[in-house]
Amino acid sequence: MTHQKKKLKVLALFDAIAPTTLDQDLSEELLTEDWKTETNVLSALRELGHTTEYLAIFDNLDLLRQKMEGFQPDVIFNLADQFKNNRAFDQNIVSFLEMYGVPFTGCGSTGLTLCKHKGISKKILSYHRIHTPAFVIVARGKRITRPAKLRFPILVKPLKEEASLGISQASFVSNDEQFKERVQFIHDKYANDVIAEEYIHGRELYVSLMGDLRLQEFPIRELVFKEVPPDEPKIATFKAKWDDEYRERWGLKNQFAEDLDSAVARNIQQTCKRIYRLLTLDGYARMDLRLTANNEVYFIEANPNPILAADEDFALSAAKAGVPYPQLIDRIARHGLRTERG
Ligand SMILES: Nc1ncnc2c1ncn2[C@@H]1O[C@H](COP(=O)(O)OP(=O)(O)O)[C@@H](O)[C@H]1O
Ligand SMILES: [Mg+2]
Repeated sequence: MTHQKKKLKVLALFDAIAPTTLDQDLSEELLTEDWKTETNVLSALRELGHTTEYLAIFDNLDLLRQKMEGFQPDVIFNLADQFKNNRAFDQNIVSFLEMYGVPFTGCGSTGLTLCKHKGISKKILSYHRIHTPAFVIVARGKRITRPAKLRFPILVKPLKEEASLGISQASFVSNDEQFKERVQFIHDKYANDVIAEEYIHGRELYVSLMGDLRLQEFPIRELVFKEVPPDEPKIATFKAKWDDEYRERWGLKNQFAEDLDSAVARNIQQTCKRIYRLLTLDGYARMDLRLTANNEVYFIEANPNPILAADEDFALSAAKAGVPYPQLIDRIARHGLRTERG
């Protein structure tokens, strides 16, 4: 585009793991690896010429209200995905923004709520005949039993977690004893109900999409497990995602999916668009999928507002599709500004 778009006042909203103040200086934190996404987004916003301020919140929404009244942002760039150290509250932060009536980036509260609960999203999608693994939910305090029709091997996961928290090779269970032990472990150590799913063998694919009525999908990414022996389960465990040494040892690599038949690739993209709409997503998201040996696409999970760091799958996919990082951030901000909520 040749004409200059209006520059925006953007409030970048972060979460913090301890109480904060209105004008807290986060420059030290922003230099660390943990704050990479926030730093990448802030730099892009500034590079784009937007007037940018930030606020990190822990458990005090009144700070946010004060900040909005003082700064009067055009749009909130929402990078807050927990409240009071609880990741299940991301949807509530967004609900507050919706009620307040301020435009914000990313997905609305309904989409966040449906995706956070790994059982509800699968029920909706299976109703619409999208392949989803069979599963059972085992709530805390309930007797731990496996329904006879749920077949091994099974993957035991926290019902409402992210980033592979609570997922290790021990999550993959092959008998009732292991099943009980792992479910109990998640109940106790992760303070979470459990979703136990039939394990789907296949390639691990990630598809990034953004938009609403007009929806754009980006090239398909894959996590490959080069040095993992063929008979071992291939799972994006916590270590597989975040431990560089472990990734090196087992030959784990995130890359663009190679050698996908074009009809299969098209089917994956179409399926992901349907999933996005069925789950009422309206900002940006990344789908986690499994592709079986006979090219069936299984839904594993939808991630509304996936990690936006410049070197993560979402941004890399966008860049491959011709949307470099600052433009991606600009588009997300402007899309947020335009989206009707509530
Ligand atoms: N039913 C399943 N079959 C095969 N692999 C699975 C299944 N569920 C999860 N996984 C593996 O575990 C990883 C993490 O599970 P996921 O539901 O995406 O949790 P998170 O929200 O922590 O990313 C997936 O990327 C995949 O590698
Ligand atoms: Mg996932």
